[in-house]
Amino acid sequence: MRRFLGLLALLVAATGLARAETLSDQQLLGRRLYQQSCGVCHTRPTLQSPLFGPALSKATFAQGDDQPRRQIANGSPNMPGFKYNFTGEQIDAIVAFLKTTDTPPANPPQAQPAAANSQR
Ligand code: HEC
Repeated sequence: MRRFLGLLALLVAATGLARAETLSDQQLLGRRLYQQSCGVCHTRPTLQSPLFGPALSKATFAQGDDQPRRQIANGSPNMPGFKYNFTGEQIDAIVAFLKTTDTPPANPPQAQPAAANSQR
């Protein structure tokens, strides 16, 4: 049992390391800023929780960076703008991090009222 737990801990540590290693310093910075300032609305805290904003991923940038960057800088009636909180470099980092994330699974229809308001 003891040995099994040791192996398990090693495995968990190794996968954690492997994941962290695949992100550049810029992407890691972006992940930290995203988790601090964006996740509250854009990441579902539990599987059952509703999501306030649309799920973000590399698919968000499929039409280019301009519109999503404007949204991040200026915000909307439903989202604060971040141009006074973040430098251009910090917004670059968030965009770089989001582009490492895969298309999220489709949300159940009743869980995405905000997407209907999307200004795109
Ligand atoms: C208070 C909740 C809230 C926070 C905090 C928030 N957002 Fe949003 N965001 C929204 C909502 C709601 C929308 C949907 C569009 C709308 O209603 O304006 C949105 C839309 C977006 C979009 C456009 C998505 C698309 O598909 O067009 C991007 C990009 C985005 N947010 C990025 C961010 C980033 C990056 C941060 C953190 C720096 C952030 N948001 C913080 C609520 C939030």
